[in-house]
Amino acid sequence: MEILQPKTAQESLTILTDIVLPGETNPLNSLFGGELLARMDRACSIAARRHSRSIVVTASVNHVAFEKSVPVGSVISVEAKVSRAFSTSMEVFVDVWIEERTSGKRTIASEGIYTFVAVDENGKPKVIPQIIPETDLEKERYEAALRRKQLSLVLSKRMLPAEATELKKLFE
Ligand SMILES: CC(C)(COP(=O)(O)OP(=O)(O)OC[C@H]1O[C@@H](n2cnc3c(N)ncnc32)[C@H](O)[C@@H]1OP(=O)(O)O)[C@@H](O)C(=O)NCCC(=O)NCCS
Repeated sequence: MEILQPKTAQESLTILTDIVLPGETNPLNSLFGGELLARMDRACSIAARRHSRSIVVTASVNHVAFEKSVPVGSVISVEAKVSRAFSTSMEVFVDVWIEERTSGKRTIASEGIYTFVAVDENGKPKVIPQIIPETDLEKERYEAALRRKQLSLVLSKRMLPAEATELKKLFE
């Protein structure tokens, strides 16, 4: 069997920078949530593809928080990075930043955590390289990823709560 070399989280970093146009807004002239979700999913899928060098599919949207509305005309950066790879699946974190026009100061608008699975041409899951976390934030996200995977598997009825050992540790 082919031995896959581990890769750093940074190698998967994907940044999509774009402007918010009037046709993409809600009645409050802020970015429509579904439009932002599409951009987040796109950035995460590219990060997952860069890490696995495979076809990838979204298995789960584990968490999304819209913390700040994004006014029309804003420039936003959607930044995605693989936080941990398991066997065939990987967790991807995405942060959405608004860039202030005059100062260039960045504030966080939204965050999300997605799960992608690498698949072959027939849609069958395939093994991917492991992740080497380097920064403190990457290490923190890496460490907690198994807990989040178990939570997602329990919610999707793919794992019994009793089997979610890492998750249970939180409450012990
Ligand atoms: C995601 C998919 C490939 C999983 O296929 P499967 O035959 O059930 O495969 P498995 O049970 O072996 O799961 C594959 C991996 O996904 C993980 N996984 C599956 N569902 C998951 C979920 N809801 N949350 C977290 N991880 C999940 C499994 O734990 C496994 O991870 P591992 O190999 O790293 O341990 C399949 O369900 C699928 O194709 N879904 C549709 C995807 C899609 O159309 N997405 C939207 C458009 S891209």
